[in-house]
Amino acid sequence: MDIRELLAGKLSEEELRKVKRAFDIIGDIAIVEIDESLREKRKIIAEAIMKVHKNVRVVCSKAGPVTGEERIRPLEIIGGENRTETIHTENGCRFKLDISKVFYTPRLANERMRIARQVREDEVVVDLFAGVGPYSILVARLAKPKLVYAIDKNEFAYHYLLENIKLNKVEGRVRAFLGDCREVVEEQRIMGVDRVIMNLPKQADHFLDVAFKIVKNGGMVHFYYFLREEELFEGAFKIIQREAGRFGRRIEFLEARKCGELAPGVFRVVVDFEVNP
Ligand SMILES: C[S@@+](CC[C@H](N)C(=O)[O-])C[C@H]1O[C@@H](n2cnc3c(N)ncnc32)[C@H](O)[C@@H]1O
Repeated sequence: MDIRELLAGKLSEEELRKVKRAFDIIGDIAIVEIDESLREKRKIIAEAIMKVHKNVRVVCSKAGPVTGEERIRPLEIIGGENRTETIHTENGCRFKLDISKVFYTPRLANERMRIARQVREDEVVVDLFAGVGPYSILVARLAKPKLVYAIDKNEFAYHYLLENIKLNKVEGRVRAFLGDCREVVEEQRIMGVDRVIMNLPKQADHFLDVAFKIVKNGGMVHFYYFLREEELFEGAFKIIQREAGRFGRRIEFLEARKCGELAPGVFRVVVDFEVNP
């Protein structure tokens, strides 16, 4: 049954029209956007969601935008159990995480698989903004990389990253580091790597220098960024070209695509490029 059908009689026609049918489910937690005018009805809406989606045990409403370097969104629990930790399954991997303390979106599942399928045996991969490990762990499980360096500065993300490495039995293939990626690559003397994943679309441009420093000739970079419709994809190409020039590297753009819409007319994009001398 549809959520709006369940709520008919409890909400007015006008209110029903404002109930969003689409929302993310992470593990057994639903994350919904509730119109301010429906605030008083949020518990009834949460009950309806749990009736329709039998696997949902917690309903949270978005209480603000994703902000800060750690990319966390404030949330309010509006129904079900009083917790924000869950285990989410994606592409056959299991990720334990607390949705109130770390970034996670299930909307990148296909994109993560697209990247993992490109990884060849014995590659060294660096995931500069690893979060709880959805790229690093999938790469380690699906391909046979020599090593994946997974870095994150959020201590909660790092905590779950360590747990998820064990949960998915990839201890030998993924090494996790807590800290700023620029500092970690210096300290660990990471260089000459085959592939760099840069999933920090809000600020990835500030870290292109790190990517150019560590990627080997013939290596690949996956650069995520936010662009408005009118900037597709030149807005990203220009920034990458400029940074490549500063490092005396030549680049070849291999693919550019949208992988999500952040707001009307604003897209998450990914640009794959190969780096050469
Ligand atoms: C958009 S999230 C992506 C996380 C993960 N790749 C995913 O797909 O779920 C970006 C992550 O980068 C981390 N981060 C931000 N700035 C960082 C930095 N300078 N060094 C390392 N990690 C950083 C944040 O804590 C956050 O977990």
